[in-house]
Amino acid sequence: MSETTLGTASPQPAGPAEPALGVPDPLDEAAVGNAVNAALAAFAAAGNLDQLKAARIAHTGEKSPLSLANREIGKLAKQDKAAAGKIIGPARGRLNQALAARTEELEAARDAQILVEEAVDVTAAPRRRRAGARHPLSTLQERVGDIFVGMGWEIAEGPELESEWFNFDALNFKPDHPAREMQDTFFVEPPQAHLLLRTHTSPVQVRSMLERDLPVYVLCPGKVFRTDELDATHTPVFHQFEGLAIDKGLSMADLRGTLEHFARQMFGAEASIRLRPNYFPFTEPSAELDIWHPGAKGGPQWIEWGGCGMVHPNVLRAAGIDPEVYSGFAFGMGIERTLMFRNEVSDMHDMIEGDVRFSEHFGMEI
Ligand code: DAH
Repeated sequence: MSETTLGTASPQPAGPAEPALGVPDPLDEAAVGNAVNAALAAFAAAGNLDQLKAARIAHTGEKSPLSLANREIGKLAKQDKAAAGKIIGPARGRLNQALAARTEELEAARDAQILVEEAVDVTAAPRRRRAGARHPLSTLQERVGDIFVGMGWEIAEGPELESEWFNFDALNFKPDHPAREMQDTFFVEPPQAHLLLRTHTSPVQVRSMLERDLPVYVLCPGKVFRTDELDATHTPVFHQFEGLAIDKGLSMADLRGTLEHFARQMFGAEASIRLRPNYFPFTEPSAELDIWHPGAKGGPQWIEWGGCGMVHPNVLRAAGIDPEVYSGFAFGMGIERTLMFRNEVSDMHDMIEGDVRFSEHFGMEI
């Protein structure tokens, strides 16, 4: 009779003996098997170790269906506990095995991927950074400096932005000297400041005499400026080196001997020099210096190299030195010009364009 009471049906648990929250009955082998299958499917579906970790927590963690079912065993009647243990124990063992196997697979896949991603092709052509080269003007300037330092001289420097007084007045240039014209010299505004870009390294002579104790033996290399157009033999910015010796009893013979030694160091034992009378406001007597260049391109020959002379008494006086007690000699040459005839460079453009292929020809000579 009771089978016909459809209208008064009491609530029944849905489906087979599957308790709420999906916790299988520990005695229901089929339900436990379903939980195991669900876990195995989740482990297999995990595509990486992170996903596998999530599946492990869901299916074997403290709140997983099987762990909860395991806890249920404690509540069972004594005789049922052993039976439930025989169902749940092997089920958990299977999951642990499957988990270990899948972990191993995914770790191997991860390691293989790292090997691919971090692979280094040791046969690939290296990217080379091209080494630069020192500019031959710098190495030549240092070579000149070394020769004089080797004779006990010192290197002196002065500012490129110079006062008109050091560049001209102190060097005995008269106020109407043509070198003071705007067409030769870069004057710097305002005119009343009397500043200019030095036109030669000779102002360093005066600075050295004022700043140093006597005697003075200095070589002064540096940049100088003139309002020339750039062409094969001129450039508005170039370099000179200036020599100055002030001591008691110096004569033209000391100048000659010093320059001859210098010429031989630069151009070989067969080199020699000759002096031709000339005029410079800051020396008296003054001379043009020629060098006998044994290795010149067109065969051994005399080449005009620079100016020199005995320091003018007016220049000594401007620097506070008594010309009755001290005398001195000075000389000045262009570094570009020296490089041109020493190393057969025929075009000034090559020196200033900065193409490393030009500099490389000179090696690392110091
Ligand atoms: N200052 C001169 C020039 O630029 C070169 C020179 C000539 C320097 C004679 C000297 C010297 O020291 O004695 O043309």
